Amino acid sequence: MSSKILIIGACGQIGTELTARLREIHGTENVIASDINTRKLELVNSGPFEIIDAKNFNAIKDCCVNYNVDTVYLMAALLSATGEKYPMEAWDLNMNSLFHVLNLAKTGIIKKVYWPSSIAVFGPTTPRDNTPQHTICEPTTVYGITKQVGERWCEYYYNKYNVDVRSIRYPGIISHKAMPGGGTTDYAVEIYHEAIKNGNYECFLSENTSLPMMFMDDAIKATVDLMEAPADHLTIRSSYNLSAISFTPKEIFESIKRRIPEFEISYNPDFRQAIADSWPSSIDDSVARKDWNWQHSFDLDAMTDVMLNELKKKYTHS
Ligand code: SER
Repeated sequence: MSSKILIIGACGQIGTELTARLREIHGTENVIASDINTRKLELVNSGPFEIIDAKNFNAIKDCCVNYNVDTVYLMAALLSATGEKYPMEAWDLNMNSLFHVLNLAKTGIIKKVYWPSSIAVFGPTTPRDNTPQHTICEPTTVYGITKQVGERWCEYYYNKYNVDVRSIRYPGIISHKAMPGGGTTDYAVEIYHEAIKNGNYECFLSENTSLPMMFMDDAIKATVDLMEAPADHLTIRSSYNLSAISFTPKEIFESIKRRIPEFEISYNPDFRQAIADSWPSSIDDSVARKDWNWQHSFDLDAMTDVMLNELKKKYTHS
């Protein structure tokens, strides 16, 4: 039997596109998509699919054993805004799912793990501009705490048990295929949808809030490149800083307005403003660029072109 990949949380924003890309690279039959339910029928019907609750160790283990899985991408998580509403659920899901996968790797049932961290590991005491790889991490959100602690555990399992775990601190990810769920950076996806559908958008962050962001194609490329990099090139086993573009709500609005002149925006910051204010505005990712040759391709205007074209097609055909 050939080795196989399992994606946990495959129906989410990143999981959807990661599954498609990994199936292109490794073949559909070798990539098992899983999620807690069958909410995304295209994914369920397009290749191997299993219902797995990421909090259920035996469900993950059985799937790994049955399919001879050797690599797991753990994409299930409660994000920053949802985590503030359901703190204990966020802790439960984000931490236990990670332990389950790390422990499967520790016992040798699987060989390699991908686990995403986030800019949410940083906090108000972190240097905000060009935030270094190694710096103060005092997160203020439950989500950020789970990611910070998760990073420590990843490094611990690598050092103590030789677990080949790899991780990226994703910035806000912008995509047109699946909606993000419950994050503070979600406005940068919603704004494109509303520009096409309604011609106006009420933003839940203030106009000059600068945050690190990335187009999905770059995020998927980074994930694949990191997982394919030779192990001896990697100097970070907690999580790599990664950056592409930083912009404010005003700047993304202006990028859209250059293409849709009648587009209007208003600002009505809510509880997510405090979360955004605690995060960096830009990230120093020189270690990722040095260790595994990371380079991004999309700037704000290139991303706006793709987002508007793809969403126009989507809304015209639906
Ligand atoms: N996009 C995430 C959030 O906003 C950050 O990792 O919660």
